[in-house]
Amino acid sequence: NWTMVNIVEEQVERIRAQVGSKRVICGLSGGVDSAVAAALVQRAVGDQLTCVFVDHGLLRKGEAEQVEKDFVAATGVSLKVVDAQERFLDALAGATDPEDKRKIIGREFIRVFEQAAREVVAEAGESDESVEFLVQGTLYPDIVESGGGTGTANIKSHHNVGGLPDDLQFQLVEPLRELFKDEVRRVGEELGLPAEMVWRQPFPGPGLGIRIIGEVTRERLDILREADAIAREELSRAGLDRDIWQCPVVLLADVRSVGVQGDGRTYGHPVVLRPVTSEDAMTADWARVPYDVLATISNRITNEVREINRVTLDVTSKPPGTIEWE
Ligand code: XMP
Repeated sequence: NWTMVNIVEEQVERIRAQVGSKRVICGLSGGVDSAVAAALVQRAVGDQLTCVFVDHGLLRKGEAEQVEKDFVAATGVSLKVVDAQERFLDALAGATDPEDKRKIIGREFIRVFEQAAREVVAEAGESDESVEFLVQGTLYPDIVESGGGTGTANIKSHHNVGGLPDDLQFQLVEPLRELFKDEVRRVGEELGLPAEMVWRQPFPGPGLGIRIIGEVTRERLDILREADAIAREELSRAGLDRDIWQCPVVLLADVRSVGVQGDGRTYGHPVVLRPVTSEDAMTADWARVPYDVLATISNRITNEVREINRVTLDVTSKPPGTIEWE
């Protein structure tokens, strides 16, 4: 695809011109955007780049492994992994308000990332080079929604725009700043990233933390991770990955309802399926997923995830509902 080849070449040139022979650091979130941004920078300046992956424990099933193995295999990038799962759970204990949760996750992320960045800087310092650039996988819609581009009101506090402390001075490299999601995916393909990674649904930085309505605990994360994996597996099996923008699975952790499973009465939690179609996430419609696919997802979740006894479907467009529930 010519357009994508052009975008890649143009960005590679721009990145080279911007960073010269300095070192660059990039945080990988497990999402498409940071992966493609990192791959572009890797293409442009090779081992001047170090990636940092903060595992906050809020990722979907298999995603941490995908970053640590498949992404590294595809790009040859040098990666530093920080296991911060305990730290995030401790920080989130007791928090239930959506904006509080987002702020806590954003704050902890920055602290952990900052620490890792200092280590990368220190290691580079020993070899007499300096780290001066930070890659961000910011897309055009992120800038608009965070009020950065057009002065639009801030709807939710996205933590992927701005936000590093003053004493860590990096210049930003934002190679996806002018792109929409579908273009980012095509750039990713052009760069040879694995299809499962490039075509993966968008996933918010705060991860499963904002898909548990109520307090985030390890048990709840495990429950949601299983239900989410089943929904993703069945949507893929039905060939719907490219028709559906994303399908958050939301755990209503403080709600219980009575059910009957096997011989017994249950008192479990509901999950909400939130499949949407969209061009750019700024507006969305609920996806008309075939009934038989919904039936399979529902049967499997209630059979395989003991704590869940009810599966519901969100049929709200955006606006008025946002895609995520928090
Ligand atoms: P909403 O819920 O605002 O979501 O309709 C729009 C799109 O943005 C994703 N999203 C986020 N992405 N950090 C991110 O990187 C965030 O804090 C965040 N919050 C929402 C969401 O999944 C959807 O694709």
